[in-house]
Amino acid sequence: MNKKTFYVTTPIYYVNDVPHIGHAYTTIAADTIARYKRMCGFDVFFLTGTDEHGQKIELAARERGTTPKQLADSVVERFKNLWSALNIKYTKFIRTTDEIHKKTVQRVFNEMLKKGDIYLGDYEGWYCTPCETYWTETQLMDGNVCPSCGRQTEKLKEPSYFFRMSKYQDTLLTYIKNNPDFIKPTSRRNEIIAFIEEGLRDLSVSRTTFNWGIPVPQDDKHVIYVWIDALTNYISALDYYNDGENFKKYWPADFHLVGKDILRFHTVYWPSMLLSIGEKLPKSVFAHGWWTVEGQKMSKSLGNAISPNYLIEKFGVDPIRYFLLREVPFGLDGDFSFKTLIHRINSDLANDLGNLISRSANMIYRYFDGLIPLYSDKDEEDERLSEIILANIENIDIYMNALEFNKALISIWEIVNALNKYIDTTKPWTLAKDINMRGRLGSVMYIIADTIRIISMLVYPFIPETALKIRKQFNFSEDLESINFNEEKKVLKLLGGNQINKGEPLFPRIDETLKLKELEGKISVKDDQENIVDIDYFKKVELISAKVLKAERIKNSEKLLKLSIDVGNKSKTIVAGVGKFYKPEDMIGKVIVVVNNLKPTKIMNEESQGMLLAATTDEGVVVLELPNEVPPGTRLK
Ligand code: MSP
Repeated sequence: MNKKTFYVTTPIYYVNDVPHIGHAYTTIAADTIARYKRMCGFDVFFLTGTDEHGQKIELAARERGTTPKQLADSVVERFKNLWSALNIKYTKFIRTTDEIHKKTVQRVFNEMLKKGDIYLGDYEGWYCTPCETYWTETQLMDGNVCPSCGRQTEKLKEPSYFFRMSKYQDTLLTYIKNNPDFIKPTSRRNEIIAFIEEGLRDLSVSRTTFNWGIPVPQDDKHVIYVWIDALTNYISALDYYNDGENFKKYWPADFHLVGKDILRFHTVYWPSMLLSIGEKLPKSVFAHGWWTVEGQKMSKSLGNAISPNYLIEKFGVDPIRYFLLREVPFGLDGDFSFKTLIHRINSDLANDLGNLISRSANMIYRYFDGLIPLYSDKDEEDERLSEIILANIENIDIYMNALEFNKALISIWEIVNALNKYIDTTKPWTLAKDINMRGRLGSVMYIIADTIRIISMLVYPFIPETALKIRKQFNFSEDLESINFNEEKKVLKLLGGNQINKGEPLFPRIDETLKLKELEGKISVKDDQENIVDIDYFKKVELISAKVLKAERIKNSEKLLKLSIDVGNKSKTIVAGVGKFYKPEDMIGKVIVVVNNLKPTKIMNEESQGMLLAATTDEGVVVLELPNEVPPGTRLK
């Protein structure tokens, strides 16, 4: 019999940033549901990967003095290493620079074209020339200033291909209304419905102002808009290009997991594209909330983006996986703090689960030399416990299928706590004192071991390393993905006779005060190595002195000055954004510092062949000057 399939995806992550817990969150959630479904006998395809094209990546690479592909290659390694450290078992890691992906995106574009859904028009937006970026009106800062560099932007028009998204407005709205599971959670679904009801506009789907992207077929002056490129990953990974077997088998996706910030792309752009190319829509898109850190938005510039590697080093992988999925319902925002993390670890993992496992193993050792006895003497306590187990397992299945991870964990812990209570009520230490109660003592040990078997199976999707440690210690099968889950989730299934091991404590209790001291000041976890450049890298930048010979304003710009400078053996032109603070005549005669080997670039139709150094303070811009006796063309080291 063919297994039922299950296809789950994470967003593909931009490679201009290193991974933080926000990224880890979605990926851990996807891994957890993938493991659960595999354990339930599904044939699972779990996709993750990286989003590598677009202007953001091109600029990030330029800032680091590298190429976009080299930047992507190095960041991809960091993602893959992190996924392996977090025990993420994906089926495929897709990169948008993969050849098959590029061909797929072009195929999708061509199919939309054939359908009559693509036309050439003009894109108009606010353009920042130095950053080479368009911004929307809402993104601009006061005075139409670029939110990235703080410089003046200008309204520009360029030719662009458009996708007739407006055409799909009604079909999409009807689909969303008829399929309550398509957008989850429900509050988000209402937001999207309201957005579509306001009216969908056609979407600009190509750019001519940069190159780092997939060319429009038959018009390679244009590159395809990065979201059209990125969203297509969900089918290029299944070999849609060749109408491959995986596409037939796994599409439509069961779940696209995404952060709330990118829900609109997945529930408006993506389904419209799929409607245009005549493919089925994903069954469900689930928007999870965002993590803040001690009440603050996590961001690179604030330096508080928590590094998952640091957390793993300090706490271990399973506590992190557990905390992220237990602390906050999957659709809501959450706040990360070391204090709450430590409390969770101590109460749920060390106290409830860890102690349960070690006290149970100790008793089986003490009373039966580590051999799990057979079940013989029934008692109504056993009945009570098995009712709790069975009822919770049913709920867990409902919660898992709805991605209500925290509720599933609460249910699993009801079993953990019920077993702890069972031990307290049956009092094996008292039974052990009475030789006539030997049979009952054995049965109690059996029930304990049998329940641990079930618990270790249920926690496996969330904390796989711990689950397997427990199963190894108790000599249960460690291949949880090929078990018959329907059988294994029944009670009294253990055959008995297993020889168990003593085992180490699973989660040593954390001394909160000591640990917080150790972590002090580390709430903003920066990767210190990230910004370090070596001397050879620095030496590549040619800083020289230059004398300003001529200076004039650039037409229509209050900020830009065109400077003619003497760089020793010749003169050069540079365009500098200092015009608000310096008149052209102030600049003439100054000895300044310039980057001599900067790649020439066009700024407002003038070629700039270098860049001067200046300090930007709250008050304005101050040009760096050298004493007059320094001859032009002197290298600075
Ligand atoms: N490349 C796009 C996705 C394309 S999918 C076809 C992208 N990448 S991203 O790297 O910026 O973000 C990836 C995911 O990380 C998003 O789902 C986003 O919501 C999530 N998170 C980023 N910061 C986060 C938090 N602080 N908390 C939780 N998730 C966060 O968008």
